[in-house]
Amino acid sequence: MENNRPLLELINLKKYFDVSGGSFFKKEKKYLTAVDDVSFEIYKGETFGLVGESGCGKSTLGRCIVRLYEPTGGNIIYDGEDITRISQKEMLNYRKRLQMIFQDPYASLNTRLTVQEIVGEGIETHKLYTGKEKQDKIYELLTTVGLKKEHANRYPHEFSGGQRQRIGIARSLAVEPDLVVCDEPISALDVSIQAQVVNMLEDLQDNMGLTYLFIAHDLSMVKHISDRIGVMYLGKMMEITTSKELYKNPLHPYTQALLSSIPIPDPKVRTSKKRIILQGDVKSPINPPEGCRFNSRCRYVQDICREKTPELREIEPGHFVACHLV
Ligand SMILES: Nc1ncnc2c1ncn2[C@@H]1O[C@H](COP(=O)(O)OP(=O)(O)O)[C@@H](O)[C@H]1O
Ligand SMILES: [Mg+2]
Repeated sequence: MENNRPLLELINLKKYFDVSGGSFFKKEKKYLTAVDDVSFEIYKGETFGLVGESGCGKSTLGRCIVRLYEPTGGNIIYDGEDITRISQKEMLNYRKRLQMIFQDPYASLNTRLTVQEIVGEGIETHKLYTGKEKQDKIYELLTTVGLKKEHANRYPHEFSGGQRQRIGIARSLAVEPDLVVCDEPISALDVSIQAQVVNMLEDLQDNMGLTYLFIAHDLSMVKHISDRIGVMYLGKMMEITTSKELYKNPLHPYTQALLSSIPIPDPKVRTSKKRIILQGDVKSPINPPEGCRFNSRCRYVQDICREKTPELREIEPGHFVACHLV
């Protein structure tokens, strides 16, 4: 895998939100560092899982990649081209190749459009098919995601949550993308249908040669689907390695805590594994001081963790950790 050129490369990506407030006299700027200096790459055909607690910057990162947000700093290299600062017009070409599936399948669908119009929008924008070909393509997409031809003229409110997510998936696949940012695509769905949708995403990946950035808030969801996993904490990447290695040999204290909170079905294994309860407050991402962002909750915290921000370092081949103590 490493011999190929990455399909997507993020270099020191930053997204800061200005939260100074409206006061004219306030000179001091306040920034919320939602994504702070994040670097990693995704290879073609790979699924890169991105995990971390709610608010750690996963969606912001995903939105920067598809340029729904303008990055504050760093670079986004897509298939060898720097797309960080290209114009919206130039971006149109990449919009086709880079798609996003959103967490809330209802909020992300235009309720006044029929399924046919929703799925067909991208086909029109990118002038991929017209007339009967376009119609056939829409029917084909609906069947691909487990819906029916007859659903084409209905509206989003007539569907269940799982079906709406299927519509959202059909919409993003309509333009035949290379990379799909899946932002917690199953979190809002009933547990009973989560596996169905994940299995479908995996089949689609095999059949269409897709590359995924798969975002989730806990490790149980990304375990099976991901080739490699990145663990984020308060805007920073804490650990990156293969899915297998992360479960076998988690090195960052935060990853260890996240892993220990996954329910284990086997009672024998359960008693031998102790759950790590995270103590302490989550730090604020607004004007964060130097030091490790996890230091307020880390069991092993030392002075250096409060003084210096740890770099993400390659500890073993392909295994990266940002921790002074590893
Ligand atoms: N448009 C915005 N303006 C200001 N702050 C934002 C905005 N979007 C997200 N944030 C903040 O950025 C941080 C990361 O949010 P988000 O990327 O949604 O996290 P996640 O997807 O991991 O739950 C949070 O502190 C959130 O409140
Ligand atoms: Mg999110």
